[in-house]
Amino acid sequence: MSNPPNDRAQQKDEYAVSYDSLRTTESHASRTAEVNAAFFLPHLKSGMSLLDCGCGPGSITVGLAARADPGQVTGVDVGESVVEAARRHAVERGVTNVRFQVASAYELPFPDNSFDAVFTHNMPEHLQDPLKAFQEMHRVLKAGGVLGVRDIDGAGLLISGPGEDQIRRAVEIMFKNWLNVSGTPYLGRQLRSLLREAGFMRVFAQASYDNYPTGESLTRFMDIYASTFENERTFIDRVTQSGLADEGELREFAEAFRAFGRHPDSFLANAHCEAVGWKELV
Ligand SMILES: C[S@@+](CC[C@H](N)C(=O)[O-])C[C@H]1O[C@@H](n2cnc3c(N)ncnc32)[C@H](O)[C@@H]1O
Repeated sequence: MSNPPNDRAQQKDEYAVSYDSLRTTESHASRTAEVNAAFFLPHLKSGMSLLDCGCGPGSITVGLAARADPGQVTGVDVGESVVEAARRHAVERGVTNVRFQVASAYELPFPDNSFDAVFTHNMPEHLQDPLKAFQEMHRVLKAGGVLGVRDIDGAGLLISGPGEDQIRRAVEIMFKNWLNVSGTPYLGRQLRSLLREAGFMRVFAQASYDNYPTGESLTRFMDIYASTFENERTFIDRVTQSGLADEGELREFAEAFRAFGRHPDSFLANAHCEAVGWKELV
């Protein structure tokens, strides 16, 4: 009998949009260690070796590198173009204790017990088999090492403003497509149990929000979603071919995102869950 989780891990995980999308380059690149890894920073010390798994364009990674300096930080991602973008970002920021390489979280190219800390942000939520990835992160951590993870939980989405029902329908389509493609937008609440199953001890888990507190930040965020619905060919093809919406509806949703993002009464915040766990000292 074959092992179902490993079978699932053999399948190629696909990103619900695409690795090179505007969302990756604009939205992810605006993330920072101070905001997106705030829960993990108290566990980092100068001189630590750290792995950022699924690092994307590296904007969080370079902030983690500043904390770990002079420790060596490694960012890995399966997307070649985002790894290139991350390298450029580190050079532009003058951060020298960080390197980036193409690698999968399912098969990390590092020996057992390599890192003092491992971080992963909004990556396990896209995997068919997040447990297998957490087991790999556990393997490459040194005994006593610490893991920090933060992933979305779409059930906690807060939306209020003109056209909110249409925005909710659009988000529902996005989440259904995500579930069809790979992973789940509801992974956040499972982090404690996944980490425990992967072997982590003393797991601390809580929820927090991604916020868009100013009109400008909400406009920018909603424009990125409008662009996905209007221009992101992979997303449009998947959504239309699976019958979730037709192209006309997607264009209407894009208009709704833009209008919502520009209205002074609009409010949107995205729930995430964040967890910290330790590899037992032997
Ligand atoms: C939503 S982005 C998050 C990027 C970054 N951590 C951040 O929060 O800005 C997800 C990233 O996970 C990467 N990814 C997807 N599957 C992966 C895998 N099996 N191993 C490593 N990275 C993966 C994608 O290429 C993408 O860059």
